[in-house]
Amino acid sequence: MSWRATVLTLFPEMFPGPLGQSLAGRALERGLWSLQTEDIRAAATDRHGTVDDTPFGGGAGMVMRPDIVAAALAGVTDDRPAVFLTPRGRPLTQATVHRLAAGPGIVLLCGRYEGVDQRVIEAAGLEEISVGDYVLSGGEPAAIVLLDACVRLLPGVMGAAASAEDESFSAGLLEYPHYTRPAEWQGRRVPEVLLSGHHAAVAAWRRAEAERITRERRPDLWAAYLVATAGASVATATRAP
Ligand code: ADE
Repeated sequence: MSWRATVLTLFPEMFPGPLGQSLAGRALERGLWSLQTEDIRAAATDRHGTVDDTPFGGGAGMVMRPDIVAAALAGVTDDRPAVFLTPRGRPLTQATVHRLAAGPGIVLLCGRYEGVDQRVIEAAGLEEISVGDYVLSGGEPAAIVLLDACVRLLPGVMGAAASAEDESFSAGLLEYPHYTRPAEWQGRRVPEVLLSGHHAAVAAWRRAEAERITRERRPDLWAAYLVATAGASVATATRAP
């Protein structure tokens, strides 16, 4: 059975969206994964299709009712992990993406950002995941991000070259810069070492560039990398910032 994604949302028409195109879209057509959407509003019990209510304790915004969300989840949950997309969640990492892609699939709950009643998150054992430290208007774009990251790792979706590239991020460094023809463009030359045909020198340059850029842009990743590679040779570790 191929990897199965089910998305619970108030906006099913947002899917597949970008996931119907390019790599993920071709993989969908080829049956390497499947995507099912469930309209949360279908679980509403009144004739207005009410899914939310005002927060206990007061305050702005509306909160999704636990009974409605539980009923929507009950129809789709099986052995797959169930995730609630929220800026309050643990940050999504490539390690999490690998874990989720290695399983049978995923159930994603897209809520309104003001909130979902905490009791149903606990009762259903939902894993809370954030795609970054910013606030989206809903969980749907976050679900698309998470699904895209998982689908590209599924067997048969990518060629060997791209999976090797993923390994380089998993190693804890940002990627080195890329260049192609022409060798000179608008007075800017490609770094000479890349034209040298000297494979070891190219590899050393790329590693040094990956380390430099990680150190400059992501002190958090750089610190973790230094710990992980303690004792091993780090090309630029001792160089002043
Ligand atoms: N919903 C709103 N903002 C989000 C975020 N940053 N990550 C995941 N889900 C969200």
